[in-house]
Amino acid sequence: MKLERLELETTGPVARVWLNRPEVRNAFDGLMVTELRKTLFDLGTLDAVRVIVLGGRGSAFCAGGDLAWMKATAAFTREENLREAQAMADLFFTVYNSPKPVVARVHGAALGGGAGLVAACDIAVAALGSQFGFTEVRLGILPAVISPYVLSKIGESAARELFLTGERFEAVRAAEIGLVRHAVPEDDLDAVVESRVSELMKAGPRAVAEAKALLREVSFKRVEDVQRYTVERIADIRVTAEAQEGMHAFLEKRPPKWSS
Ligand code: COA
Repeated sequence: MKLERLELETTGPVARVWLNRPEVRNAFDGLMVTELRKTLFDLGTLDAVRVIVLGGRGSAFCAGGDLAWMKATAAFTREENLREAQAMADLFFTVYNSPKPVVARVHGAALGGGAGLVAACDIAVAALGSQFGFTEVRLGILPAVISPYVLSKIGESAARELFLTGERFEAVRAAEIGLVRHAVPEDDLDAVVESRVSELMKAGPRAVAEAKALLREVSFKRVEDVQRYTVERIADIRVTAEAQEGMHAFLEKRPPKWSS
């Protein structure tokens, strides 16, 4: 697929996906939603790719949904409107559900759906000074399809305040509430992202995919409801070739084969 709204750089096992619509601060319209969803899905199927880094070209990570595009939905039928909203929901789920770890590299601004994208990623690193916000209510709309990902990252208390006020906040606060993991000087942003990538590269690729599935299954569930699932997961994975290699490598005091 020829990409008009994204740039894709693959260096060895690391795929870097850049939102590339800087003139509107990487706001996403239908085409960007389609391209991003397909690109992330396809990267998830490639054995050669171990980590995905998501960033934005220009002065901001992502200004959320394209408001000109969203405004135009007033002329859509309800069916068309539902289809567009579903495509957006599918995008966030594709990020969240990717078998590869996804690291967000955030600078400038991550607002509305842009902040939702950050929440759907596994690990987010933000430059100090970047602004965040669930600004939807200030526009008369809702942080709807992003809400499951945001709630699971920041919890209901912070979400109540931020969803209801729509106020903007800074990277340090984003780190305090767990929307991002690290708030670092902009000059250090790439180095910290690379350090996350190199830590992720030490993990067994299958184990990482399974750990993501585990997190998805276990969050917000009662222990009794997930205990059987967790028992089956560990019983199944510890006998695999990858797990056996990982444990042998540790006991033989050598790095496992997948570690670079
Ligand atoms: N949808 C459509 N266009 C957008 C946009 C969005 N979400 N965000 C920014 N743009 C456009 C602006 O309209 C402007 O267009 P113009 O050059 O034709 O005037 C251009 O992008 C640059 O925006 P500007 O505000 O001048 O840039 P900035 O660098 O000063 O600020 C932001 C960047 C992201 C902080 C600011 O644009 C902003 O707050 N955007 C709104 C974000 C928002 O609330 N998103 C939630 C959507 S659900």
